[in-house]
Amino acid sequence: MQSATVENPLRAGLDAERMPPPCAVVIFGASGDLTRRKLMPALYNLALEGLLPAGFTVVGFARRAMAPSEFRAQIRDAINQFSRRRPVDPGTWEAFEQGITYVQGTFQDVADYARLDQELRRIDRERGTRGNRIFYLATPPTQYETIIDNLGRAGLNVPAEPGSWTRLIIEKPFGRDYQSAVALNDHLLRIFAEEQIFRIDHYLGKETVQNVLAFRFANGIFEPIWNRNYIDHVQITVAESLGLEGRGDYYDQAGALRDMVQNHMLQLLCVTAMEPPIAFEADAVRDEKVKVLRAIRQIDPKRVNEMTVRGQYGPGWVGGQPVPGYREEPNVAPNSVTETYVALKLFIDNWRWAGVPFYLRTGKRMPRRVTEIAIQFKHVPHPLFRGPAAASMEPNVLAIRIQPDEGISLKIAAKVPGPLIRLRSVNMGFLYGTSFMVESPDAYERLLLDCMLGDSTLFTRRDETEAAWRPITAILKGWAEAPPPRFPNYEAGTWGPREADEFIARDGRAWRQP
Ligand code: BG6
Repeated sequence: MQSATVENPLRAGLDAERMPPPCAVVIFGASGDLTRRKLMPALYNLALEGLLPAGFTVVGFARRAMAPSEFRAQIRDAINQFSRRRPVDPGTWEAFEQGITYVQGTFQDVADYARLDQELRRIDRERGTRGNRIFYLATPPTQYETIIDNLGRAGLNVPAEPGSWTRLIIEKPFGRDYQSAVALNDHLLRIFAEEQIFRIDHYLGKETVQNVLAFRFANGIFEPIWNRNYIDHVQITVAESLGLEGRGDYYDQAGALRDMVQNHMLQLLCVTAMEPPIAFEADAVRDEKVKVLRAIRQIDPKRVNEMTVRGQYGPGWVGGQPVPGYREEPNVAPNSVTETYVALKLFIDNWRWAGVPFYLRTGKRMPRRVTEIAIQFKHVPHPLFRGPAAASMEPNVLAIRIQPDEGISLKIAAKVPGPLIRLRSVNMGFLYGTSFMVESPDAYERLLLDCMLGDSTLFTRRDETEAAWRPITAILKGWAEAPPPRFPNYEAGTWGPREADEFIARDGRAWRQP
């Protein structure tokens, strides 16, 4: 038997620190999109880096009857198509595929979980995985409770042998609103303990998101100005040029607020706004994020239109290609009122952020893909340079580019060379690509590894998930009560509805053009 570990002497010291113990990962929903696009490519890249433990094994679990060899062939295709590094490296693949197997079963039938248990025991014996297991729920959320219940009935929720561990990774969407998230948490916690549950938000696995914490808390010079005394406002943008990518069924029930804001964008807000944790450890970090979420001022559902703007794209052009409108996408209702764009203004009612608006916007079918956090500082207290000399001067902006072109830039005023005093804004910048010359791992690589190591710092805790749903649920309530806007109200390939520009202009501000 071979292990998936690839020797890489240059990484020896580093790997020793991060090498997880032998374990098996069971993927529920093994024939789904997430498995193909993200999970298996991530595991394969970990194997390439030599970061998987000896005997590491993946068990695909899904309804379709298929031989393990067929499942392996599917995975190989998926890696060739979606892996960060491709095509498949034959040497790594040979070892990796020995650790891939498949169990055919239905999520509803507890007898299939008993067979899964048998298979896991065989793997423990033959591959030395020592009873350590991760169950990954990569299914539609309607299946979560059934799978969790059956794992419990089959006794798979508790460690298989003394000293071993059992963990559960659960994907978003985690509930549809505050009440359903609480209900799902109650259900989960009847069968698993909180330390076993890893609620995934892949934005936290992005290098650049983690770098926000490094930037803020490993540099002494920014923290003193990171507050209401110096910051005018914060803009968080997550723009996507893609449309639905065949996910109409799911998306039409979700919408941008649930799909992006409740999780990814509020996590970006948390890392920007949180207080320094007492240690870089799971509970210390999450305690601080929960405090931010709890401090978000509740939006009065009756005044939801003063604090939010909804949009939905019509037909248009993206990247030089004509694209259909949202209502023409497959599996979307022809009169759908689901939002594909949302802009909102939030206040964090605490000492640091009193009175500083956080503007968030996200949309599908925008002109470009860009995610950034922009901190806009206040104007200088006494303007020495006025009139034409300073006409093209803008306030300082610190822009943290999460993706693509990852980096950080600071906009500052500089004197234009010449005999006159004329000022212009210029950028000081750091780019990941040029500073480090290495490609960042995919978010799932980091998060899967962390779960194998039992580190839940970058996963969301129960109270955090629920706290994130509170403001979102108030907005959903307000939207349900207000008449729906006239959709579509922006053309695909534009930066969103006109109302969003008017919304921020009412505060005397403007969206950045990233
Ligand atoms: C997912 C959403 O969670 O995040 C998708 O469901 C979205 O709709 C995706 O496209 C964006 O992730 P990334 O990593 O491409 O920014």
